Amino acid sequence: MKSFVCILLLSVGLSASSIPQIVRKGDKYSLLVDGKPYIVLGAQVSNSSGWPSRFEQLLPGAEAMHLNTIEVPVYWENVEPQEGQFRFDTFDTIIRLAREHNFHLVMLWFGTWKNGTMDYAPDWVKTNTTRFPRMIDNGGHPVRVLNPMSEANLNADRTAYSTVMKHLKEVDGDQHTVILAQVENESGSLFTDRDHSAEANREFAGPVPSKLLEALHKKPGTWTQAFGAEADEAFAAYYVSRYVNAVAEAGKKEYPLPAYANVWLREQKNFMRPGEAYPSGGATLNMLDLWKAMTPSLDAIAPDNYVLDYANYQSVLAGYHRKDNPLLVPETGGPRFASNIFYALGDFDALGYAPFGLDRAVEGGKVNDLAKGFAEDCRLLGPAIPLISELQGTGKLHSAVEEQYLTDRLIHSSKFDVLVQFGTLHSEYGGTFGTQTPGMTGRALVAELAPDEFVVIGFDAHVRFRPARGRKERNAQFLSAEEGTYVDGQWKTTRVLNGDETFFAVRFPPQGAMLRFKLMAY
Ligand code: DGJ
Repeated sequence: MKSFVCILLLSVGLSASSIPQIVRKGDKYSLLVDGKPYIVLGAQVSNSSGWPSRFEQLLPGAEAMHLNTIEVPVYWENVEPQEGQFRFDTFDTIIRLAREHNFHLVMLWFGTWKNGTMDYAPDWVKTNTTRFPRMIDNGGHPVRVLNPMSEANLNADRTAYSTVMKHLKEVDGDQHTVILAQVENESGSLFTDRDHSAEANREFAGPVPSKLLEALHKKPGTWTQAFGAEADEAFAAYYVSRYVNAVAEAGKKEYPLPAYANVWLREQKNFMRPGEAYPSGGATLNMLDLWKAMTPSLDAIAPDNYVLDYANYQSVLAGYHRKDNPLLVPETGGPRFASNIFYALGDFDALGYAPFGLDRAVEGGKVNDLAKGFAEDCRLLGPAIPLISELQGTGKLHSAVEEQYLTDRLIHSSKFDVLVQFGTLHSEYGGTFGTQTPGMTGRALVAELAPDEFVVIGFDAHVRFRPARGRKERNAQFLSAEEGTYVDGQWKTTRVLNGDETFFAVRFPPQGAMLRFKLMAY
């Protein structure tokens, strides 16, 4: 593993003192922190917990959760209470506290947009509606959202954000406590699909900018001709993405930390109307091509994935996992977040995964029942980050996750088939099958190190091997089954399993285990 890290460092010319980066090699993306592959195993604090006293209370719980990263807001209204007068005491203290507890941070810029509204703009922006115009809905009324077409709005936000980044470089440029910057939060507009001011209506009736049409391979025409039923939304997305990119670009000129935009998804159980069910103009999947064309200064566009059913959860991951977009899940939730991380890391090469609401997950330094599974995930996955990062994008890493009626997952590798089964095994016509665990908690990550060597990180599961179908050998035999973990990228065995522990199937307990198998086929 060490050799992999060295080769990667040499090939991208990085050293331990390098600024965090998202690098692309072929179709594979890696997040590098201090020159080493990194995966965010994080959580996001509640919206009003980016304050030192509150943040400090959460840190023992974050440690108990085995997180490596915490996502924390930086509020425009706090850093620039008067125009041009900046204060960084809040942010500086948060950085110091995170450092003292060995956490990295993702900085969430609550600027022009927060959940499709302007609630974190300072007073001097909110009250001066002439200088800082709001969007107008189709009834002619102003809404609680700054107008993305306004240069004054953009200039104000851009100045604030780039001043924050300049300061960050001064206080953190050599330590890299902050590893990623989220530019705005769930940008786009609630309450209206686009700006309907007279000026916007004139623009909307005119031609779509030719650069955008070229990037999207569309014929010249008006917004309606080019985008049909999605014209209002595409018009909004053009101005919002242009604005977010300009803010990110200005910030990177000061301090080129990797930057991403997060997305309030369109995937809803209702009528999916932009501006009602989700902020119009955000980088929803139907606007993702447009956003990618408009945001060269963003390293990623990242879904806040709160989808509850696993099929749609995965299709969101698949939608944002593109050759031109590394997957990052900066927010997630619902009862399945301890399982969904396995899909994200194992099947969609996620560079990070962070449930929302650390405050709800921990109390008095302890992890609540709701987050215990995720804490166990982080405990086992953390030491395996170099391995996971190396195998992502190679086809040698797979998830196996229990879902309702999905109790047996078959994974194919070059030489062996790996069968991961959940619940008590029972024999039936046709073989031995898994059953459902009481909490549907079975989950595993299967990593192929070599054709006859695997690492499996699993919970509430049984694992069995057979030679791949079509091979002449019929059976697999363990040469070794070692329980252990990685320490600084090197495998360390804590015990060797054999006898009852391997005879029928290898069992992974509810609290999880990491096992390394060497096999032969006969
Ligand atoms: C998504 C937002 O990005 C977060 O700031 C927070 O408001 C959550 N929704 C709450 O579910």
